[in-house]
Amino acid sequence: TDRYAVIGNPVAHSKSPLIHAAFARQTGQKLVYERLEAPLDDFVDTAAQFLAMGGSGCNVTVPFKEEAFRFANLLSDRAELAGAVNTLWLDDEGVVGDNTDGAGLVADLLLHTTLAGKRILLLGAGGAARGVIAPLLDEEPASLCIANRSADKAVALAGHFAELGEVAGMGLAGLDGQSFDLVINATSASLAGASLPLPASLWQTGPVAYDMMYGTQETPFLAQARAAGVQQRLDGLGMLVAQAAEAFYLWRGLRPDTAPVLTELRAQL
Ligand code: ATR
Repeated sequence: TDRYAVIGNPVAHSKSPLIHAAFARQTGQKLVYERLEAPLDDFVDTAAQFLAMGGSGCNVTVPFKEEAFRFANLLSDRAELAGAVNTLWLDDEGVVGDNTDGAGLVADLLLHTTLAGKRILLLGAGGAARGVIAPLLDEEPASLCIANRSADKAVALAGHFAELGEVAGMGLAGLDGQSFDLVINATSASLAGASLPLPASLWQTGPVAYDMMYGTQETPFLAQARAAGVQQRLDGLGMLVAQAAEAFYLWRGLRPDTAPVLTELRAQL
């Protein structure tokens, strides 16, 4: 039986084993998928050992995606651009690293809205934001604005992706008076239960609000959007399932149907 795993720290609450088990059932694939907690200072040994002991591939989650990027012998273009890897597997030439987070976000967004020609705001300039910029620009939005608490990080990130499309970076204060068709939260502010200082102008045109985070409770960002009267509000559970589907496709060559798995997961939140 082919063995897969998700490596993280902490990893106990990862839903990836549930998701991949559901995909395997659905597609009639025989595989096992486990959780592996790597010591904070020892991702490489954990991953190398898992693959050496017969593991076929693994997903990588917080806080090891940058280390997985350095660990891989071969990188996909999108992993290269993201500077992070969430999916690893072995092939003849060594350990291959890819990043399915951005593709997962885009696939989930496209179930609910269109992206071509849209004005998109991406909040945050950390690893989570960086991983989705190239896939978003691939959809040819009219513009992508990256806004971050620390303006300099947003400006640097926009500069890094300037060749791929219409992208600008700024501080959160720069958003005053601006409006967008889609507002994506890629900050980790929700984790701390914090809401972002966002101007009222942001919500006046009724954008789609998307939080890459999810939880049992409504996230502070989506609560903010709801209070401002935003109708279409989406959390990151769909992105989680879609990035897993993309990894499953890389490993198994089959595209599972994400909808029933998302429904099952939502019911268990
Ligand atoms: P991740 O891998 O989740 O992206 P990260 O690389 O540490 O984690 O980035 C966290 C992001 O959330 C950053 O954009 C950070 O803003 P700064 O660059 O200014 O630090 C943002 N963030 C975290 N907490 C925040 C808060 N309370 N308010 C606003 N932004 C916050």
